[in-house]
Amino acid sequence: MFEEFPYEELPSRVPLLYGRKVLELFRNPKNLGRMDDADAMAYAGSPVCGDMIAMYLKISDEEVVEKAKFESYGCAANIAAASILTEMITDKKLEEAWKISWRDVTKELGGLPSVKYHCGVLAVGALRRAIRNYHERKGKLPDWIPKGETLEEKQALEEEELAKVLSKRFKLE
Ligand code: FES
Repeated sequence: MFEEFPYEELPSRVPLLYGRKVLELFRNPKNLGRMDDADAMAYAGSPVCGDMIAMYLKISDEEVVEKAKFESYGCAANIAAASILTEMITDKKLEEAWKISWRDVTKELGGLPSVKYHCGVLAVGALRRAIRNYHERKGKLPDWIPKGETLEEKQALEEEELAKVLSKRFKLE
């Protein structure tokens, strides 16, 4: 005989409860769109699995974020997280922007369902990559950027690796 399908072990299909702020930003995201004259940009995630984000930054000579924009192919939580992150980093020095963690973003959103934490992680991962790339292009990392990837950058990498494995397995490539 076949084994029983493990329904009890699967996540609930009940719609996720998003807070007011998340829903508001999902419906009316701030700073959405491409920035053609960005000084720094980075992607995180992979279009193969559906979650992907691009972060664009306009940076002044004093290393202040003058403008931040994003594009997202993620879920409602990802759009809301990226939107609020662009607001949180505008007018901030790159060093301050770098220090914003996915927990800060989640808090600013008024919380997220735990299965959606990774959506905020991906947004911060894209931001940190953009800041890291910006300094690497200049030829030197400041001492506030660790040589190794941070949790958010690692998570973005892991998702990309997973997407590659899945796409090979299901022959999407
Ligand atoms: Fe993957 Fe939200 S970005 S579920």
